Amino acid sequence: MTHSLYQDAIDILKTNDRGTYSLPTQGLYPVQFNWDSAFAALGYRFINPVRAWQEVQQLASSQWPDGMIPHIMFRGHHDGYFPGPSIWKTGQFTPTSGITQPPVLASVIRRLDDTHPLDDSIEMHDMLRRLVRWHEWFIVARQEPQTEAIAIIHPWESGRDNMSDWDSGMARVEIADLPPYTRRDLDHVDASQRPTKEQYDRYLTIIKYGRDHQWRQDHLGQHSPFRMVDPGMTAFLLRSSRDLLALLQKHQPDNQAALSTVQQHIESLDRGWKNLWNDKVNAYTCYDPVEQKHINSVSSASFLSCFAGVYEEGRHEKLMGEFDRISNKVKFMVPSFDPDHADFDAKRYWRGPVWHVINDSIGRGFAEHGETERAERIRADSEALITQSKFFEYFDPITGEGLGGKDFTWTASVYLDWVMQGADHGTD
Ligand code: DGY
Repeated sequence: MTHSLYQDAIDILKTNDRGTYSLPTQGLYPVQFNWDSAFAALGYRFINPVRAWQEVQQLASSQWPDGMIPHIMFRGHHDGYFPGPSIWKTGQFTPTSGITQPPVLASVIRRLDDTHPLDDSIEMHDMLRRLVRWHEWFIVARQEPQTEAIAIIHPWESGRDNMSDWDSGMARVEIADLPPYTRRDLDHVDASQRPTKEQYDRYLTIIKYGRDHQWRQDHLGQHSPFRMVDPGMTAFLLRSSRDLLALLQKHQPDNQAALSTVQQHIESLDRGWKNLWNDKVNAYTCYDPVEQKHINSVSSASFLSCFAGVYEEGRHEKLMGEFDRISNKVKFMVPSFDPDHADFDAKRYWRGPVWHVINDSIGRGFAEHGETERAERIRADSEALITQSKFFEYFDPITGEGLGGKDFTWTASVYLDWVMQGADHGTD
């Protein structure tokens, strides 16, 4: 008997379910990750909406007293993950990492609320309160004053860990005298598809700096040995802020303080996104706050403008020109990095491969702004990748080979929720 891909996706979500939280995949990532978890909730809607809400509530419950929702929550048996809680030493009740991840949660909550609203308004109010605090935390601890866009203090915050956009910032991180360590990711994935040893040495050096500074996030925002302004984080926070405003207008129309705070975030982040425009490459790009200059390369994050709700006449057409140039270079859109750039690597994590969560966001944004053909190219390529290679973590944009972790939660979720729009399209 053959299983349909729809059923395979459901089975993956069930296999990676740990009852109240999800794993991105077994083995490689035995921990709850922030944005993986939010995307997982969208998939759980197709099995059990109560479980979908439980996932996001569990995620939000890990919020730090300062407002940050961390990038990793160490629950259950997490021994196979490196670096674990004894390296982070964040002192939280449920052990967590000391950095954050792309804020997609408010956008996910809005979609859950549209299709399966919570019965309990107290729980919704608690969620909205946590979301406003987290967004405010970004503005205080991560907004870069020069651009008003959002900076990261560790490549892992961006979720796009080893992007070549971070290379010049990473080169400034002087590798500390680190105790010997064993990477666990290489037990599961070939080294050619993962970040290098030198990058890991720097990742751990930045963690050491955070630990030595008691994870004081305002300090880290200004002094972390690694700082870069990220179009990805800026676009996700801007989109999430618009979604949060809509949620507040619906559920708390009299909460003037929260409404005006979020409205101000939107205005400021909108300016921030526009300041990332880079005439040299006709795209929104990363900005180096230390050297005070743009990084001249196009990545998949450059195409999140529509998703962020920004349309700038003239610039939009130039950006679409870049999209079409890249479309002609690869079989499967959207590569995480420009295939014409010398640093492009079709198999190495975020230096070239296609990721379904980014495709979902770019594709939705394009569809919302009338870029119908380009949106359909992304959706159809995303479907073709899964048909060819099944539910991998990422994919080679030229050959379609599945890479990284197998049976991946967010790939399954995005397949159900966006690629196939919830429809079961029969057997293989
Ligand atoms: C990993 O372990 O590779 C994660 O992406 C870190 O956030």
